[in-house]
Amino acid sequence: MKKLLIIANWKSYKGEKEIEEWFGTIREYSNLFTDASSLSVVICPSFPYLALVKQQIERASLPFLVGAQTVSSFDEGKYTGEVSAKQLHELVSYVLIGHSERIEHFGETKEALAEKVRLANQYGVQTIYCAPSNEVTVPEAVNVIAYEPPTSISPGPADTPENAAHIASQLQTTHPKSDIIYGGSVTPDNVHDFTCLPEISGVLVGRASLDAKEFGTLITNA
Ligand code: PGA
Repeated sequence: MKKLLIIANWKSYKGEKEIEEWFGTIREYSNLFTDASSLSVVICPSFPYLALVKQQIERASLPFLVGAQTVSSFDEGKYTGEVSAKQLHELVSYVLIGHSERIEHFGETKEALAEKVRLANQYGVQTIYCAPSNEVTVPEAVNVIAYEPPTSISPGPADTPENAAHIASQLQTTHPKSDIIYGGSVTPDNVHDFTCLPEISGVLVGRASLDAKEFGTLITNA
């Protein structure tokens, strides 16, 4: 059986109280996470809550990992407001790079994304690179590629499993060392349509990860 990677992208939602409540509820699903060989769950909160999420995971003895939603394209230095890969590597196992919302709202360039990947690799943070299609250049050294068409992000509609499988197999050909996952309006109802595909190793989940019950059901159905 393949190991599924399930990434929760909380975007700029959730503060301290909501995070504590979320963990209070997800604990009820602990039995889903006993087989660490078949499932890897990564929670990506906003920067101020990385440490809290790490603490909550430890407190509940959940086999989850923590991820960041972005990283600076600069190394440590005089870059006010930025969070460097060197700082992040103490807190996270993964980082999302190139999410379409960052490209749309913050104008991140191809060159900056390549620098982010280089720095994350340098500091040992695993990269999840978001690719809107198979027509973009994805740096070679990425650990995971999340195929996520921007038009499929909720409210969607999600891509068809057939097309996702087709794009995933093309990305796999050009990046044989990376795992390919799918993102965009993944829900408890459609998750298995993607995770059952041999080309797809997991899912990137935004909206459906915000409610712990919904996320627990999504994992049950995956
Ligand atoms: P969505 O978001 O699951 O709400 O579509 C996914 C994402 O943007 O990473």
